[in-house]
Amino acid sequence: MAPTAFIAPQTASTSVFKEDIFKGKVLFCTGGGSGICRGMTEALMRHGASATIVGRKVDRLTQAAKELSEATGQKCIPCQGDVRHPKTLQDAVAKTIEAFGRIDFVICGAAGNFLVPIAALSENGFKTVIEIDTIGTYNTIKATLPHVRASKGAYIHVSATLHYRGTPYQAHVSAAKAGVDALSAVLAVEEGPHGVRSNVIAPGPIAGTEGVDRLESKGTGADARDMLYPLGRMGSIADVANATVWLFSGAAEYVTGQVLPVDGGTEHLRALV
Ligand code: HXC
Repeated sequence: MAPTAFIAPQTASTSVFKEDIFKGKVLFCTGGGSGICRGMTEALMRHGASATIVGRKVDRLTQAAKELSEATGQKCIPCQGDVRHPKTLQDAVAKTIEAFGRIDFVICGAAGNFLVPIAALSENGFKTVIEIDTIGTYNTIKATLPHVRASKGAYIHVSATLHYRGTPYQAHVSAAKAGVDALSAVLAVEEGPHGVRSNVIAPGPIAGTEGVDRLESKGTGADARDMLYPLGRMGSIADVANATVWLFSGAAEYVTGQVLPVDGGTEHLRALV
């Protein structure tokens, strides 16, 4: 059966890196049922890794695990859970160890977002996003760290570039992702002596993702968008997946505590007026 391609079939990672660089390795990915994190998971599996994906929506998660396994020939198990609840993560970790015996790589990717001005943002709205993004990341680190230490593995936290400046309607996500970046830096310095690396990937606007779909609804037109991308196009899930492969690979063994924007240079672009 021809494999389903979720990301570009000929991504740079499959032509630049050996197919089996992650053979025998195990990925634990929150938010892996859809979007960017699903693409990151697929890329690792295409290079030989097995994976656990964690998400809230059981139907979507189960379907994603099935399709990822079929597309890559590697095993992927779905674990329904909410990163706001430590117990569901502990259960997912236990299932992963039962199935695969180890965890080498963790992607902390589960996130929540919506567009709202701070004046209209409710206390619960702010708290909800902090709980999913920041506390969810902390919960994921706590649940997985003993196993990542044992394998001398690595973390990638999926953040954003929103909080580098004042992005309107994104107070809650900006605060939450700043916290994620800080957690990663501390993890890197505390766990480096144990052989654990921790880095952040900060995607810019990525086509075909829920985050961008939500921003698009604010009316950003195609002409305006073309002016925003120094590399002449919007980012893709494959772009983030390729960065993920490099960052988890041995080629990045001395890279830790860093934030890697995958945004085509967008963050550096400044409008003339
Ligand atoms: C204002 C809103 C709102 C909106 C929810 N809330 N949506 N406020 N505008 N559009 C408020 C609710 O009114 C409520 O507060 C509080 O948030 C919690 O809402 P619930 O629906 O009860 O929460 P929950 O069911 O847990 O859903 C969480 C969620 C939801 C974050 C609100 O959107 C979600 O599950 N999203 C997951 C998918 C997602 O967002 N993916 C995109 C990630 S992109 P009150 O006061 O009424 O009780 C990303 C990167 C961004 O994170 C990068 C962009 C470039």
